Amino acid sequence: MMEDRNTQEMGETMSTWKDYLEASKYQNMPDSQQKKGITQPPLQMAYEADAQLISLPDPQECTLSESDFKNIIQKRESRRQYIVKELSQSEFSYLLWATQGVKEVNEAKTFTRRTVPSAGARHPFETYLLINQVQGLAQGLYRYLALEHKLLLLEASADINQKITEACLKQKHVQTSAVTFCWVADIARTYWRYGERSFRYILLDAGHVCQNLYLAAETIQCGVCAIAAFDDDLMNTALGVDGIHLFTAYIATLGKRE
Ligand SMILES: Cc1cc2nc3c(=O)[nH]c(=O)nc-3n(C[C@H](O)[C@H](O)[C@H](O)COP(=O)(O)O)c2cc1C
Repeated sequence: MMEDRNTQEMGETMSTWKDYLEASKYQNMPDSQQKKGITQPPLQMAYEADAQLISLPDPQECTLSESDFKNIIQKRESRRQYIVKELSQSEFSYLLWATQGVKEVNEAKTFTRRTVPSAGARHPFETYLLINQVQGLAQGLYRYLALEHKLLLLEASADINQKITEACLKQKHVQTSAVTFCWVADIARTYWRYGERSFRYILLDAGHVCQNLYLAAETIQCGVCAIAAFDDDLMNTALGVDGIHLFTAYIATLGKRE
């Protein structure tokens, strides 16, 4: 087959990618940790036993301004302009439920079923939240505890906005967002079952999560913009994760719109 310039150039420069594609082919997967009988990682990242958790309202109680599914899909777009208006706690709770809400934990506590799909129900994400404007919550960095449907405060400070905005290459909609969602992947959860193939699955999983945020936002007069243009090192440092076992996979800004 004649190779065009793009394909030729890609072949010359993308050796890591070629190696990864080969190593992560389904048929090339070695025995997984699961097959080898290694204990699976926890369903959620641990936190201090005496941490003060912040309760959230019942997500089902959030009132929607739009419920016509066809309209919601048709209207969805990336929105980068937000007005200065707080999200209510009820709206915020609803968005967390829509993106990572746990519907079921099996009896053996080895998997969860959630509002989004995930390869092998591994659900590798921890949701880190830059909170700027949510009713009753101080500005700062938080983590969503999906199993408890509660929040964990990591750092109450306005500076974190600047750090995350910088890490997102100064994209203004981070600074002006009511909340910026940062989905951090705990690769071990997916790796336990899928080994080298995990990276593919984690990125696919992330797409589903963000799409639910886009659609849910349309139902409460909010706008969302996905972000993948960020400085990985700055972002991982801002969130306090190592960038290897835990890495920022995807980000999305959200705010109220006219
Ligand atoms: C994986 C991915 C990464 C994206 N990264 C950014 C980004 O860093 N900054 C931004 O402003 N928009 C980003 N977007 C939004 C796209 O620019 C947008 O989806 C595209 O222009 C189509 O517009 P629409 O979403 O309004 O249909 C991203 C979208 C996706 C799916």
